[in-house]
Amino acid sequence: MKRLGILTGGGDAAGMNAAVRAVARTAMNHDIEVIGINRGWLGLSQGDFSVMARRDTGGILHKGGTVLRTFRYPEFEYEDGQRAVAEQLPKMNLDGLIIIGGDGSCRGGTVLQEKFGIPVVCVPATIDNDIPGTEISIGFDTALNIAVDAVDKIRDTASSHGRIFVIEVMGRRCGLLAAHTALACGAEEMIVPEIEWDLNQICTRIKSGYDRGKEHSIIVVAEGAAKASDIESEIRNKLNRGVRMVVLGHVQRGGEPTAYDRNLATKLGTAAAEMIIGGEHGFMVGIQANEFHKSSLMKNESAVRSEVLAIDKLLYELI
Ligand code: F6P
Repeated sequence: MKRLGILTGGGDAAGMNAAVRAVARTAMNHDIEVIGINRGWLGLSQGDFSVMARRDTGGILHKGGTVLRTFRYPEFEYEDGQRAVAEQLPKMNLDGLIIIGGDGSCRGGTVLQEKFGIPVVCVPATIDNDIPGTEISIGFDTALNIAVDAVDKIRDTASSHGRIFVIEVMGRRCGLLAAHTALACGAEEMIVPEIEWDLNQICTRIKSGYDRGKEHSIIVVAEGAAKASDIESEIRNKLNRGVRMVVLGHVQRGGEPTAYDRNLATKLGTAAAEMIIGGEHGFMVGIQANEFHKSSLMKNESAVRSEVLAIDKLLYELI
């Protein structure tokens, strides 16, 4: 292998830079030229890249975001976007590409490998942690800790005022971030897309909590399940108590990665680079039972669903 590309795609996730550094330095240790594709799939379709020097990967391990930048580029799912990429690929002379991103980026990687014959290895990075084939994705731990910190702070004011707080966390289609936040904070309720919920029952449980002497009620809502503002106004109509809502939003995507995310990204980035350099490609490398795990890029939503259900059971058992 003479030339290896690196691309970060989809929503940024804390730890992406640590992964970029690990991939680049591993390749450089093998005397392979490394090119960074700028702005993800958009950059790939515009031939926007630059050769990376070792010093370009210095001082980035601990930084949030992605130094390669990223861009939502759904066009790559369709003919036109794919044609644009196909036109640019020969200019880049890639012998392989490491893609660091979420499920959309992994799907894009499949197209590159299968349709355009570019050897690809994907590294899972998304705060949603919704990528099958890995128990954890880069960025999830940081986002979870940010959400937990925010809920802990909100609980102080909720208790002081005896209020109900509806707190919306990110997770477009997946409730894992909300479920883990709820469990870590001992929330009274969680609302996630994987589990049916009924606001009348939620209100009954909140009321009985207050009757038992609770001083607040925290409801963690996944963005993909409902809008916090809708839940807030419905609860206000049903219960005669103070209700407030907070949308944590993109705060959860920024900031310095936790030590866990830095090390996960470093390990996965190094493994992905070693694999592609060694001639193995066409998969995502994640973590299962503490080992590197190669998986096809096919979806398997049942693993996510059973994890959310297990957390739901535990949360309500301990209330
Ligand atoms: O990257 C995942 C994610 O943060 C989801 O949790 C969220 O729904 C979405 O991205 C937001 O995307 P954007 O930043 O493009 O608005």
